[in-house]
Amino acid sequence: MKILAIETSCDDTGIAVIEASKTGDFKVLSNFVSSQIEIHKKYGGVFPTMAKREHQKNLVPVLVQALAESGLLERNKNSIKTEEIASILEREKILYKKAIPFLKKYRKPGIDLIAVTNGPGLEPCLWVGVNFAKVLSLVWNIPIVPVNHIESHILVNYLNNKAIKLPAVSLVVSGGHTQIILMKKIGEYQILGETRDDAAGECFDKSAKILGLAYPGGPEISRLAEKSEPGKIIFPRPMINEKSYDFSFSGLKTAVLYHHKKQDRKIQKSKQYIQDMSAEIQQAIIDVLIKKTVRASKENDAKTIILGGGVSANHELKTQLLIKIKQEMPEADLLFPATDHSTDNGLMTAVAGYMHRNKKTGWKCLKADANLRIS
Ligand code: KG4
Ligand code: ZN
Repeated sequence: MKILAIETSCDDTGIAVIEASKTGDFKVLSNFVSSQIEIHKKYGGVFPTMAKREHQKNLVPVLVQALAESGLLERNKNSIKTEEIASILEREKILYKKAIPFLKKYRKPGIDLIAVTNGPGLEPCLWVGVNFAKVLSLVWNIPIVPVNHIESHILVNYLNNKAIKLPAVSLVVSGGHTQIILMKKIGEYQILGETRDDAAGECFDKSAKILGLAYPGGPEISRLAEKSEPGKIIFPRPMINEKSYDFSFSGLKTAVLYHHKKQDRKIQKSKQYIQDMSAEIQQAIIDVLIKKTVRASKENDAKTIILGGGVSANHELKTQLLIKIKQEMPEADLLFPATDHSTDNGLMTAVAGYMHRNKKTGWKCLKADANLRIS
């Protein structure tokens, strides 16, 4: 079956098409992400209304690209009824203006299912993707399956691993979430712990902003950290020894701010200082993430440890977690996505959509939910 997936939960417009065989093998026909980083960089973070606007502009061109690459874009002259489409896209006028000519110009593609992220994420952004999926479902008469964004960060690991040994403990670390999740089977989850304030990615981003680095801060800090080593400056590892699997990263960000403010301007601007700060910030975050993930994995007899989310692109996190698991849980597997599948993309939505293909529904029932929970 062929699945078209749409992901707009934050600031990336992602569309992918996959072909899944009956045996659960995936062929990626296309996977395009239009990043808004250059736009949000100027403001040092994501503004939901601006991100919504960009999704509206990007969705149709990215879809055309994805369908063309998949060999599914065929011209045709269609007459379509615009009234119902206009009512679905009542709050997405820019998208409406782009969607109508597209729907008139191209034939219904050979797609069996539309998967769309319906939460969690930024509410206005989620609605753009959901409403676009509704329109495609209505006009093309293709069912929709809603996808939980956190779950898709986990399930993308099935792309290259057909048989993941369960139970698995997942660490999902992104710009908006930090959760340790026990997966007993696909669709059955228990959140063992989560952040009480900032997410790990948010801590990377906010600390980077304090240091005057560009958004998103995670990749910047990680790049600069490579040029130094942790321990030259000491930051706290919040909640590292607490029994709970919860996290708290806002105290770490405050410690970074106070330390930075105490330095004179010359030091604040020095390359060496920024590199030393980056190395320590990264290590403080990694230490807490690894300690809690390994403890949760041992206590729950995890056969697999799964990493997911934007922060799982971090090379040191992957390397150090792998070493720790080899030492402490040699029987367990560690899985993480390819670097460009760590940050938001449509492919992960497509894989999760396939896993939940039995939950397909009509477009009328679909809603976005910014606070959707995995369990
Ligand atoms: O999953 P994602 O693309 O979006 C959300 O669902 O939030 O995650 C984005 C987050 C950002 O905070 C970004 O700084 C972080 O992932 N990130 C990284 C790296 N690459 C992206 N953090 C640390 N190291 C990286 N290499
Ligand atoms: Zn994400």
